[in-house]
Amino acid sequence: AMTTFVDALIAKMTLAEKIGQLTLLTSDWVSTGPTLRAGYKEDVAAGKVGAIFNAHSVAYTRELQKLAVEGTRLKIPLIFGYDVIHGHRTIFPISLGEAASWDLAAIEKSARISATEAAAEGLHWTFAPMVDISRDPRWGRISEGAGEDTYLGSRIAEARVKGFQGKRIGDTDAVLATVKHFAAYGAPQAGRDYSTVDMSMRELRDTYLPPYKAAIDAGAATVMTSFNEVDGVPASGNHFLMTDVLRNEWGFKGFVVTDFTSINEMVPHGYAKDEKQAGEQAINAGVDMDMQGAVYLNHLAKSVAEGKVSVATIDTAVRRVLEMKYRLGLFTDPYRFSDAKREKANVMTPAFLAAARDVARRSMVLLKNDRDALPIASSAKRIAVVGPLGDSKADMIGSWAGQGDRTTKPVSVLEGIRARAGKGVTVTYAKGASYAFADAAKTDGFAEAMAAARDADVIVAAMGEHWDMTGEAASRTSLDLPGNQEALLKQLKTLGKPIVLVLLSGRPNTVAWAAENVDAILEAWYPGTMGGHAVADVLFGDYNPSGKLPVTFPRSVGQVPIYYAMKNTGRPYEPKGPEQKYRSRYLDSPNTPQWPFGYGLSYTSFGYSPVTLDRATIRPGQTLTASVTLTNTGKRVGTETVQLYTRDLVGSVTRPLKELKGFRQITLKPGEARRVSFTVSDKDLAFHRADMSWGAEAGDFDLFIGGSSDVATPVRFTLSE
Ligand code: IFM
Repeated sequence: AMTTFVDALIAKMTLAEKIGQLTLLTSDWVSTGPTLRAGYKEDVAAGKVGAIFNAHSVAYTRELQKLAVEGTRLKIPLIFGYDVIHGHRTIFPISLGEAASWDLAAIEKSARISATEAAAEGLHWTFAPMVDISRDPRWGRISEGAGEDTYLGSRIAEARVKGFQGKRIGDTDAVLATVKHFAAYGAPQAGRDYSTVDMSMRELRDTYLPPYKAAIDAGAATVMTSFNEVDGVPASGNHFLMTDVLRNEWGFKGFVVTDFTSINEMVPHGYAKDEKQAGEQAINAGVDMDMQGAVYLNHLAKSVAEGKVSVATIDTAVRRVLEMKYRLGLFTDPYRFSDAKREKANVMTPAFLAAARDVARRSMVLLKNDRDALPIASSAKRIAVVGPLGDSKADMIGSWAGQGDRTTKPVSVLEGIRARAGKGVTVTYAKGASYAFADAAKTDGFAEAMAAARDADVIVAAMGEHWDMTGEAASRTSLDLPGNQEALLKQLKTLGKPIVLVLLSGRPNTVAWAAENVDAILEAWYPGTMGGHAVADVLFGDYNPSGKLPVTFPRSVGQVPIYYAMKNTGRPYEPKGPEQKYRSRYLDSPNTPQWPFGYGLSYTSFGYSPVTLDRATIRPGQTLTASVTLTNTGKRVGTETVQLYTRDLVGSVTRPLKELKGFRQITLKPGEARRVSFTVSDKDLAFHRADMSWGAEAGDFDLFIGGSSDVATPVRFTLSE
């Protein structure tokens, strides 16, 4: 029925009407404030626009939809899109933070709630999930992805797509997902946003492409191109990516939208001589919809007249867009997502807020906890909160926060601590330091912070980055705590009190001094609307931290890129060996990170038995089972993320030192033990071999099971021919 309907509609359309369906423009509202694009409503009424982004209320979407369905000849409804990334009104932790939960059900739930709130405001489509693998914390958008790992990133991509799209496309509590930014946007040279991406085809296919594919296999309706070039060709003009891989290899059936003006940007890239040519390159590469650039709108008809673009190509793109409108049910009722009652009933409900608090505490990673500094003892009667993130609401929210309120709704760290500490506990607060780059040498707030902390039983230093220091166009050359925050920490240290550092940021920061000198460190990311409560839940032990790092924390920016799945090299450095100058190492730093991928502490401890295998050799098609006994060896109930890694010892091309192949979250009572098993087959061991074919190679493998990527002791198995 859909094909017949859409074909019949296309048969009636003029070329101009078709090009209109391939055009996406912003409304009056953009996330950074209203920017009026004079005339876009006239464009809608004239059938020149197929979709609108940044319009997000029932009243507004109704008004615009009316223009489309009553004002245009063919009455084709608009699709409404928006960046609903980690919440729409109820804000969840930033995506990197959610990834640190390793909790796929929690991540799916967060996306489900975000979709419910967004769809209730007339939205059909979110520009998420971002699944760009990134191994470069200088890049500000590392905060928007799931970190450095292909396997974890792929599972999270699936969870997010399922959450956003719900049971089926067309349900009025679901939105279309957009897997972005295709492709390899997370690997810009020097960590600078929008910069050149250049990597081997093998690295692209083994490491960077799988999460996009996983999202598409999970049903993602749309794909967004990236701003960067890949192997010399900007993504929005890249036929290899948009057609050979996406359509022909992966069988993607939805539509492709550009990232903003990335078609126009092919001119400064030096790939097109003018916008008209850029438009031809884009549509011929397989890019269906032009976001905001108006290149298709302005030039495509001429390109068709000149024979540079075929009508068949245009029809293919139009069909993909119309099919999605059909699946959304918009031809039956163009206003079906714009229901004022639903809008009212689905904003920041108590259940949504409770879920946001729960996901936030699951996302936090305990990085250090000496002298049992945490949880804060009930005997602590004076708590000093210091730092620029101590009483900030705006910073709790992070970047790209949909319609998330930054000024009244978010719970700050101080508010969360005050609410939990209760009667009989004095909580003092002093900002003390600044995270502004320009304030690095200042000390003017230190005295106030020292006064607040002097009589404290414990000092909670809430430090990190301003929320706008990660996200788009927020690259840094240093990963240190900005401003004078570390200098204040050093002063506080002279008081001899326990110091708990709560890090709030969207990237791995380099905190080598703090790692040595403070008692406890909790990475809290930007935890969202309920962030302060979630921080307090963890600090006071109401929640036992269970997060694990989804990305390596370097000791210094000079180690970047540093990630657990590196290669051994021909001259690996063994710190314990004899003098090894001519080895792969630094003169001024260990090779090891501050904290590895997969790492995270708990208030309890876990013991791992040696790994056992049910067989030491498998043939292709067979599986082996690897098992450990996990024991809660501490005094509290706790959740551990048990991780499975393999290493392929010899390959037709060199292979990483470790690759994550599975994980399982297990909750155990004190003293409780559980057998945890994983199955492994040749499918799990596949990679792009020397000839670029996909599959495993016979030979020996190491297998590791542990609570972090630095798990040391492997067992050996063999894959036979
Ligand atoms: O979705 C975003 C993208 O991630 C960055 N450029 C703008 C798009 C739409 O707002």
